[in-house]
Amino acid sequence: MTEWIEKIEKADSPASIEEIRVGIFGKKGVLAKAFAEMKNAANEDKAKIAKELNEQKAKLNTLLNEKKIILETAALQEAMKAEGIDVSLFSPTSERGATHPVMDTMDRVIEYFSNLNFSVETGPMVEDDFHNFEALNLPKYHPARDMQDTFYFKDEKLLRTHTSPVQIRTMLNTQPPIRMIAPGSVFRRDFDITHTPMFHQIEGLLVDEKGKVSFANLKFILEGFLHHMFGDVEVRFRPSFFPFTEPSAEVDISCIFCEGKGCRICSKTGWLEVLGCGIVDPNVFDAVGYKNVSGYAFGLGIERFAMLIHQIPDLRSLFEGDMRLLEQF
Ligand code: PHE
Repeated sequence: MTEWIEKIEKADSPASIEEIRVGIFGKKGVLAKAFAEMKNAANEDKAKIAKELNEQKAKLNTLLNEKKIILETAALQEAMKAEGIDVSLFSPTSERGATHPVMDTMDRVIEYFSNLNFSVETGPMVEDDFHNFEALNLPKYHPARDMQDTFYFKDEKLLRTHTSPVQIRTMLNTQPPIRMIAPGSVFRRDFDITHTPMFHQIEGLLVDEKGKVSFANLKFILEGFLHHMFGDVEVRFRPSFFPFTEPSAEVDISCIFCEGKGCRICSKTGWLEVLGCGIVDPNVFDAVGYKNVSGYAFGLGIERFAMLIHQIPDLRSLFEGDMRLLEQF
């Protein structure tokens, strides 16, 4: 029997194990032969021989089964290697991504205005002077251009400093009434804890027949919007100046950190400035050839909203791509 034990040990495939099984347990196998030969043995030895044979039979059976499992597992692994991908395995490194806080905030803003039937418009980031300034009532050498530190190219082109040029392009391409928002990245020469050279804005524009659009409409829309973004806050409109709107206002919300009591973040004022807005200046409508219309416009920086909502102290950290920061959202 030792030669069969050796054979089992040396077997290298499930097929060879099967051959050995037949050789041992088959009708013409060694065990059958050995049991057949028992009848030639002396009667008093028969019981002993039968016991020994049965023991060997059990031992060989165990060895065969064990070896079979080992060989079958190995064969399966070989086959899986050859087939390349084992989709049944979990990858230990798979991580779940998340929406970047800036994009998440952008989505929330877009959601609000889409529900009010504002269309979402886009335009080029490399702009010309006409669309970015001139048509927005910002003639060359106008001091208000200093409000927006601009990146200029050699050929009179520039990186848009706001998404207002998209409003000009939309007005030139379509006829009123218009109800649109323009989300996108904008560029200014600014870099500190609350400014980055690239950031995101959403601006809105509504144009309808003369006399149909009022400051009261604008207030209503923006108050609803700020409650959608910040929950139960107070909203106040403060007179301000923008070249493209008259009258203009800046919009504040009661500080969400100290609830208006005054803290470091609101510079002890109890208020946080979040929006610019106003009634569209007639000069802007002249520049795009619109007659007998009135409208309102507003604009906001997405990063400022994201910083307030998520309490991010340094705006620059949003653009460093550090997973330890991004995983927290
Ligand atoms: N375009 C202005 C800015 O970038 C924001 C704004 C838009 C203000 C529309 C008023 C009306 O500062």
